[in-house]
Formats: sequence, C-alpha cells, structure tokens
Amino acid sequence: MSTTFTIDTATSRATPTPAPMKRLTVPAVRARKGGEPLVMLTAYTVRMAQLMDPHCDMLLVGDSLGQVIYGLPSTLPVSVEMMCAHGAAVVRGSYHSLVVIDMPFGSYEASPEQAFATASRIMKETGAAAVKMEGGEAMAQTVSFLVARGIPVMGHVGLTPQAVNILGGHRVQGRDPAVAAKVLADTVAIDRAGAFAIVIEGVVEPIAIEATRAVSCPTIGIGASAECDGQVLVAEDMLGLFERTARFVKRYGAMADLVNEAAGAYAADVRSRAFPTPDQTYQPKD
Ligand code: KIV
Repeated sequence: MSTTFTIDTATSRATPTPAPMKRLTVPAVRARKGGEPLVMLTAYTVRMAQLMDPHCDMLLVGDSLGQVIYGLPSTLPVSVEMMCAHGAAVVRGSYHSLVVIDMPFGSYEASPEQAFATASRIMKETGAAAVKMEGGEAMAQTVSFLVARGIPVMGHVGLTPQAVNILGGHRVQGRDPAVAAKVLADTVAIDRAGAFAIVIEGVVEPIAIEATRAVSCPTIGIGASAECDGQVLVAEDMLGLFERTARFVKRYGAMADLVNEAAGAYAADVRSRAFPTPDQTYQPKD
C-alpha cells in the first residue's frame, strides 16, 4: 500500500504552506546538459524539503541519511524501508524539485529484476519520479532494463560510497591512470544505458571534465568540477551542521552554532524559571 499522503494545510506547521506547482521533469533536467547548472541538495525530512525546494532543481533523498540522520558508520546498513519513509516525507514537502531516491546497498545489484522490484516499490510508496543507483559498466544492463520499463535512473560513478570496502576507503578516484580510464568508461556506459543524469563523486578534476564532455546527459559533481552540468552536496554539510566534512564541502551556514546557542539559552531559561513567561502559559477565562 502507498504511504503517499499530501500535506494537510490545516495541520501543517509551515507558514505559508507551499502551494503545489508543476515539478521539474526528467526530460527538463536532461535538456539542461551544457546549459544553466543544475542545483541539487539532499533532503531527508519534510521541513528540510520545504526549505530547500524553492532553491533547487532536484532534491536527492540520499542513502547518506544512514550517517546524517541515523549515525550509522556507512551507507551499507540503510534499508529500502528507510528510503521509502524519508522519500515520501520529501515528496510531501516539495512542489518544484524533481525528487530522486537512492537505491540502498543490496537492493538492486543482484539482477535487473531485483532492481526493477525495488525501484518500482520506491516510486509507488513515495511518489518520487526517479531513482539513483551507484555503479558503472557492471550496472549498465540494469540501467537500460529499468529505463525501458519506465523508471528514470540517475547514475553515480567515481567514489561510490556503497563500494567503500572494495575502494578501501573514501578515496579520490582517478589519480591512477587505470582508475581514471575506468571512471571514464563507467560514465560513458551509464550514459549509453539511458541514465538521465550521472553523479560524479570524488574524482580528480580533469577526469570529471573529460567525463562530462564525453556524455550526452548532465553530470552532477560532488568533489569533481565546476564544469560538471550541476552540483550536489549533503544539505547538512552545506549548512554547517557537522565539524568534520570532506574537503569538497563548502559551508554556507553555521547551523551547529545556532543549535548550540538556542539550546543553551533554552536550558538557562528553564533552570532560572525564566521560561515559560505569561506569553507562553494559559490562564482561566474571566
Ligand atoms: O547519498 C548521498 O547523499 C549521495 C550524494 C552525496 C551524491 O549519494
């Protein structure tokens, strides 16, 4: 059964409740190849989706939620259930951006049929229009199987976090000529298989540029190059919620400081009985 609900305007905590509008489509994203750069951020919750949506072309419900939301050591333990629950929340909280949902580790690699079952479940249960999957040449057949059956796929090559155990850590890819050639071949294979966009993560810049020029679909860089057709960051990294981030992250805010200050001020007010004041309490009517 679908878990897709829409926001109830009577109970929504957001003011004003965003007005539904036409979402960016997969063909519209594809048509941006070589044009105005595509803006993508991750979102895992309804409120972050509401806040990010007006600024973005795409919202990615990344399996990075395993680390960011659940404190897991990697993306490997993330389940399809987790992706569906967060994906449905992000679709509820967004009206403009194309929502793309990550296929978690173990839910698609075994066969194209397994991938179709997972992707169709994710789309039914969330209302999202596309899925993302990691992998290069080895996943090309699966990408074309899904695309031929109505499932838009975003690829993900280079530093693929689900392959952390094969890669031996979160290492920049492409310094070694053989690895650089593999990243290029992977990007081209996923493009030819019909992906509508490809994330290129953690790749030395000249290879990211060469890969972008070699493919017909937009590339979305993260730790790659400004010459990619778009960029993506984990929103909480971009907002400054964490002290430790990868070198490719630029912080545009200081969210951790804001939370610390507000929580500290609240705690002080509670301890001194300065909160609640008459403004925050209810009295009997005369
Ligand atoms: O899971 C994720 O957030 C991602 C992006 C970092 C590209 O895959």
